[in-house]
Amino acid sequence: MALEHEFARHYEVQTISRPDLDLLGSPREIHRVLDGLDFDLLLLPAGITDVDHCERRPDEAWKANAGAPAHIAAWCARRGIRMIHFGTDYVFEGVKSTPYNEEDATSPISLYGKCKLAGERAVIQASPANLVVRLSWLFGPGKAGATPDWAVQLAMEQDFLKIASDRISMPTYTIDVARGLFPLLFDPKATGWLHMANSSSCSWLEWAKFSIDAAVDAGLTVRTRMVNSTTMAEVFLNRAHRPKYTVFATDKYEALTGMKLPCWQDAVKRYVKETVVPRYADNGLRAAV
Ligand SMILES: NC(=O)c1ccc[n+]([C@@H]2O[C@H](COP(=O)([O-])OP(=O)(O)OC[C@H]3O[C@@H](n4cnc5c(N)ncnc54)[C@H](OP(=O)(O)O)[C@@H]3O)[C@@H](O)[C@H]2O)c1
Repeated sequence: MALEHEFARHYEVQTISRPDLDLLGSPREIHRVLDGLDFDLLLLPAGITDVDHCERRPDEAWKANAGAPAHIAAWCARRGIRMIHFGTDYVFEGVKSTPYNEEDATSPISLYGKCKLAGERAVIQASPANLVVRLSWLFGPGKAGATPDWAVQLAMEQDFLKIASDRISMPTYTIDVARGLFPLLFDPKATGWLHMANSSSCSWLEWAKFSIDAAVDAGLTVRTRMVNSTTMAEVFLNRAHRPKYTVFATDKYEALTGMKLPCWQDAVKRYVKETVVPRYADNGLRAAV
């Protein structure tokens, strides 16, 4: 949604949604859809992103996250069309304590991470012109299941929240990704893997707490601002393994663009104020008007 919204300001953007192109379709079906379109650049943010669903339905996960990117990349390569694909921090094991750069060894610990990595590699192997943008902890318009959204919702409903503090990464605003990617869309130097994230890192607990505080600052009345600490082992008991630490080094992005994305706190504040809080316009907001 953010990519389409931002890029449509400057380019003619065609959106291909699930009814048009099913990533679970055969290579022939996928290619037939692409044959009917006319474009200069293909971006592929779609995929199966539910990590637990991937463990339960490995056949679907491999088709959508590895097979489909490969078939699409092969089609693009035959026509000399550049492809930008979106990868994930889950390709890393998460055992480092310093930021992961694009050359760091991958070692996914979930099926989601494994099939996404296979998809990333297929896209890179299909053409030296292609780019794989790895992202982490996304939030933004159209992603109502993200941490700022549910943390604020729970803070309005419950007396206290419990969130893991041993999970560290970089909350990343889809609008900032879209704006930050803009200068690289047709840059022939922007190829291979690229790590992109809002600047600075935090724990999952800090992200949730900051989101609730930002909502209160923007005029929302909540039941609690108390967020207690728990562990990933407790939150994800009997669920797919998630990497604990996936902070990105973004030096390659900064060298290519001369830019750094805003810090995550700035991004969360903007998102919560502009998108999350207005959903509850009959809450404390009315009193503030
Ligand atoms: N979310 C994160 O925190 C995160 C972190 C790191 C990297 N990433 C990567 O960033 C990219 C975007 O992630 P996201 O969270 O924005 O994804 P998302 O909200 O889960 O959206 C995924 C999109 O893929 C579509 N899709 C799913 N199965 C499909 C199928 N069989 N055929 C066609 N379309 C299908 C979905 O369509 P429907 O709307 O019809 O379901 C949806 O539009 C992904 O490549 C993901 O791996 C995400």
